[in-house]
Amino acid sequence: MIFSKPILFSAVQPSGNLTLGNYIGTMRHWSKMQNNYECLYCIADLHALTIQENKIDLKKSVLDTLSFYLACGVDPNKSIIFIQSHVYQHSQLNWILNCFSQFSELLRMTQFKIKRKIESDCTKKINAALFNYPILMAADILLYQTNFVPVGRDQKQHVELTRNIAHRFNSLYGNIFTLPKPLITQYGSKIMSLLEPHKKMSKSDVNKNNVIFLLDDISSVALKIQHALTDSEMPSKIYYDISKKPGISNLLEILSAITNKDINILLKELEGIMYAEFKKIVVDCLSKFLSKLQKSYNDYRHDESYLKKIAYEGAIKSQLRSQKTLKDIHDKLGLIPFF
Ligand code: TYM
Repeated sequence: MIFSKPILFSAVQPSGNLTLGNYIGTMRHWSKMQNNYECLYCIADLHALTIQENKIDLKKSVLDTLSFYLACGVDPNKSIIFIQSHVYQHSQLNWILNCFSQFSELLRMTQFKIKRKIESDCTKKINAALFNYPILMAADILLYQTNFVPVGRDQKQHVELTRNIAHRFNSLYGNIFTLPKPLITQYGSKIMSLLEPHKKMSKSDVNKNNVIFLLDDISSVALKIQHALTDSEMPSKIYYDISKKPGISNLLEILSAITNKDINILLKELEGIMYAEFKKIVVDCLSKFLSKLQKSYNDYRHDESYLKKIAYEGAIKSQLRSQKTLKDIHDKLGLIPFF
């Protein structure tokens, strides 16, 4: 298949319940991107193996994630949806790219530094895969000659590393890889924790009150938003300023994303209201948004044979596409063809 539109690749790691951060940072854009790009949406189950401590039910989590892709409007007739471990080419290219990656550049990855701290605080053990994680991500992206990668801000550095690895390989072997660009929106690319708005909202947060999960029931969402940290400015005023008002700015980014309204338009509408009233508006909008999403999610989630069919068809299509890139690489590296 020859792709006539630019190629777009994105993925989520099925390592637990998806959060509002995952949705706002990347998944909310996927449906409309299908019109302008050839899209591949992957469920990065091999990446999820790096987290071994809080044992997740991976089979369940993969199908949950796939159901959310569909509920967010990804259409299997327009996009390729697949599970990473079904396409062996990812693991193959991962090894090859390991040979073109530098220890020192991996040490600089902010996510590794954060995860290393969490893991070593808990277990004193850090597996090698946690360190090599961004190389598998580079393999995911580069196998498909990807032009664009829509991600949250936390993944920007990994996409930049991917470009560096691709560039290094290309300068040795010719133009094998397309250099991908991250697509990161100005607002919503880093949704923060509700009680600690200086840190990213994350699936793995031990304090569940910091996080809105996409499957949270509406009453607990209301409580979480009511307790979200704001500030003590007197008289209270709603405006966007990440450093002076991180809590309010975070709620504004959330409201803007789920209502599809520009922050400046929202600010006009919210002029003169108190924080409690503002939070009530956020709760109302979030409740409507989540109820609709959860209904659609449940419809897909109950039909496992349909989900498996989509994953199967997606894997066949991705295998076909990725084989071509991998064959070119094997040739360049001097690996003897199997037949
Ligand atoms: P993961 O599963 O941690 O996150 C999936 C996507 O959600 C974004 N995200 C956020 N965006 C805004 N605010 C937040 N609080 C927030 N939390 C998460 C992430 O930036 C990401 O876009 N390594 C990746 C998965 C992956 C991948 C890839 C992504 C594997 N291969 C290839 C792109 C391309 C990860 O763990 O994402």
